[in-house]
Amino acid sequence: MTTQPAPDHVRIFDTTLRDGEQSPGCSMGLAEKLEMARQLARLRVDIIEAGFPAVSEGDREAVRAVASEVEGPRIAALARCVPADIDAAWDALRHAPRPRIHVFLATSALHREFKLRMAKREILRRTVDSVARARDLTEDVEFSPEDGSRTEPEFLGEVVERAIAAGASTINIPDTVGYTMPDEFVGLIGYLRRHVAGIDGIVLSVHCHNDLGMAVANSLAAVRAGARQVECTVNGIGERAGNASLEEVVMSLATRHDFYGISTGVETREIVPASRLLSELTGMLVQRNKAIVGRNAFAHEAGIHQHGVLRNRATYEIMHPHDVGLGGNELVLGKHSGRHALRARLGDLGFDPDRDELNEVFVAFKRLADRVKEVSDEDLLRLMSETAAVPASGVVGGGPEAGASPR
Ligand code: KIV
Ligand code: ZN
Repeated sequence: MTTQPAPDHVRIFDTTLRDGEQSPGCSMGLAEKLEMARQLARLRVDIIEAGFPAVSEGDREAVRAVASEVEGPRIAALARCVPADIDAAWDALRHAPRPRIHVFLATSALHREFKLRMAKREILRRTVDSVARARDLTEDVEFSPEDGSRTEPEFLGEVVERAIAAGASTINIPDTVGYTMPDEFVGLIGYLRRHVAGIDGIVLSVHCHNDLGMAVANSLAAVRAGARQVECTVNGIGERAGNASLEEVVMSLATRHDFYGISTGVETREIVPASRLLSELTGMLVQRNKAIVGRNAFAHEAGIHQHGVLRNRATYEIMHPHDVGLGGNELVLGKHSGRHALRARLGDLGFDPDRDELNEVFVAFKRLADRVKEVSDEDLLRLMSETAAVPASGVVGGGPEAGASPR
C-alpha cells in the first residue's frame, strides 16, 4: 500500500529483527523472532522489518513465519540491488497481507570506490532495475541509498529521483555510520525535498546509527524537516553503537507533542514489556540509566527528589511510568533518602508510624543505608521489627494486631 501518512503522523519502522538482530550478541532464532514480532505488533509499530532473506536460510524462514503469522503491521524484508536478493525477499514475504520489499545500494564515494567498485552510472542503473523488479512484485517498495548522509547531495538527489521514477513509495535516507549532526541532516533532508522531482508523492524516511550518540537527535531533527517515517530498534540495538532507540523516539514525540505536533500509532504501554522481552530473548542487558527503559529511568533516591515526587510527581518526572508500561515510579531507598520517602514506603508495607516511631526507624535505616547500596522492603520489615517501637511480630507473618501501627 502506498498511501501517505497524515501530515502530523510519523510511521515507526522497527528494524529490531533485521539491523538489531545482525549486531553482535543479538542474534535470534525463528521462535525468538516470532515472539518478538508478536510483541512489536502489540506495540503497534507501523512496519516490522523481519530480516534479510538472502543472508541465510534461517533468516528466510523467520521472515516467512513473521509474514504469515503476525497480524497488524506491514512486514518488510531487506534485499541488495541484485535480482536473487529481491526474489528471495519476495519469496519470504509473499504471504504477508501487506508486504514491503526494502532494497538498498550504497551511494557514497567511499562505498562506490572501495566496497562496490562501481561508477555512478552503474549505481543509477542498478537502482532503477532493482526498484522496478521489486515494484513488479509488490506496490510497496522502499529504497535506501546506503551511506546516504556521506553521499554528494547532487548525486544522492539523482539516485533518489530515479528510484522514485522507478516506483519506490518510500525513500529512506540512512546515516549508516552515525556521522551526521542534526543541523546538517536537516539541511540534507531540506535539500532533497527542494530538488528531487516526485518527492512529495512518497514517504521520506530516515535511518540513523548511534556512533556519536546522535541517532535519536538526528531522527527527530529529520522529522522536523519533513521525514514521516523513522527507522529504529527496541533498546536501540543495532550495528556497532546501535540504531535510534524506538522508545526514545516515540516518547520524545509523545512527551513533547507541544513542540513537534507529530504523533505515532505506538501503544506506549507496551514499551517496557518489549524492552524486557528483547533482553530476555537476546541476553543483552539494558544499561541501568538508559532513557525510558533503564531500571533507573523512573527511580528516585535523593531525599529532595523523593519528597518532590511524593507531593507532585511532575516535579521530577516528565513522563508517567504507567504510560511506558511500568507499575509506578520507584522510590529507591538508599543513603540519600529522607523521612518522607521512608514514611511512604512504610505506608506501602502497611505501617503508619507516629513521629517517634518514624524517628527511631529512620536512624536505624540511615545506619543500614550507609552500609548497603539499596535498602529493600525485607530490610525495612526487619528494621521495623527490631526497633523498640515496633514489636518483632510486625507485619511479616504476624498480622496487623501484632505490630506497633500497621494499618
Ligand atoms: O545502516 C544502513 O544504511 C542500513 C540500510 C540497509 C538501510 O541498515
Ligand atoms: Zn542500519
